Amino acid sequence: MGDTVTVQPFGETFPVEPGETVLSAILRNGRFVKYGCKHGGCSTCRAEVVEGDFSQSDGTSFSLSDADRDSGVVLLCSTYPEGDLVVDIGGTMDDLTDEEYNAGQDVVEFTGTVDRIVDYTRDIKGIEIILDEPSSISFVPGQYIEIQVPGSNDEWRSFSMANPSSLDSRVHLVVRVIPNGRFTSLVGKEIAVGTTMNLRGPFGQFAIRLSYRPIIFVAGGSGIAPVLSMLSDLIESDNERPATFLYGARTVADLPMVDELRELERKHDWFTFIPALSDADRTPWDGETGLITEVLNRHFPSTKGHESYLCGPPAMIDAALDVLTSSGCKERHIFFDRFVPSG
Ligand SMILES: Cc1cc2nc3c(=O)[nH]c(=O)nc-3n(C[C@H](O)[C@H](O)[C@H](O)COP(=O)(O)OP(=O)(O)OC[C@H]3O[C@@H](n4cnc5c(N)ncnc54)[C@H](O)[C@@H]3O)c2cc1C
Ligand code: FES
Repeated sequence: MGDTVTVQPFGETFPVEPGETVLSAILRNGRFVKYGCKHGGCSTCRAEVVEGDFSQSDGTSFSLSDADRDSGVVLLCSTYPEGDLVVDIGGTMDDLTDEEYNAGQDVVEFTGTVDRIVDYTRDIKGIEIILDEPSSISFVPGQYIEIQVPGSNDEWRSFSMANPSSLDSRVHLVVRVIPNGRFTSLVGKEIAVGTTMNLRGPFGQFAIRLSYRPIIFVAGGSGIAPVLSMLSDLIESDNERPATFLYGARTVADLPMVDELRELERKHDWFTFIPALSDADRTPWDGETGLITEVLNRHFPSTKGHESYLCGPPAMIDAALDVLTSSGCKERHIFFDRFVPSG
């Protein structure tokens, strides 16, 4: 008999396929546990190992604290049983209800057709895909979708939805092109207007929480994608919560959609947009300069009582987490999506 995983406090045991993660085994067997990125980047899928041997993939180093490791906490998306493993999610996912666990995950497979490709900056592109079958998607802003690498057997990449959830007949992605990236380097080439794509989703727990707290968004690079979706939904729901969006780029040429965001700022009293350049010397710029975390610190010497949503490269998120927690923002009010490699 192969390896198994037993999930406490539910007391259910599932078979695990060779090379399969504990998270994948639980989801494949029709149950749901909390997860976000599925790649060791967001810390959402923490669980305590009660018994048994396992190995962990690389990439969890920045997602688990020393205290977590010392107390036997692992990331289910990066853990492979070596024999029969018992994990307990009672302490790490205490807000997961029996109903949510038993309902399993609600993931749909789609085909879609590329309708538009836009160059936002020299390495950030927009891709708009019309959904063909099924023809609409239900998602919460902040969630992401997986797209199959064209021509591959079973290679998928993760990208966050940038469209409002009300625009459910298409998917708008903001993609940073990675040189030699199996998927992103095809955008505008093999992936062109008219290309048929396979997609599946939605995935992830990155979403705006209902509260009265002022919001701080911090993003860099293509991390702008989920923020655009979240902002659209805030606008459509007649939001009045103050929200500040700090966006970091290197130069003026690396800033996507600045005019659109400034227009939103003009139209909505509750919204402030603060683009900042870390390498402003090369072109005229009268806005903020420095690392986005320095700008965050200048604008918010105290972040007590705020709620923060961070998205982009892992290093930026880790630095922003430090700035936010040391300036008073409670850890439980900080939510983030690390854009780690998803291949
Ligand atoms: C939950 C989630 C949501 C995401 N949303 C977005 C999004 O909206 N927009 C977006 O542009 N990206 C997003 N990403 C990141 C994206 O999925 C990866 O960058 C993806 O691997 C790119 O695929 P690729 O085939 O082009 O590169 P790959 O073939 O996967 O990688 C090629 C090489 O580049 C490295 N690499 C890949 N991605 C990165 C990266 N992000 N940073 C540094 N090195 C990298 C790999 O390690 C590898 O060596 C998201 C990731 C996650 C986990
Ligand atoms: S889902 Fe496991 S760390 Fe993100």
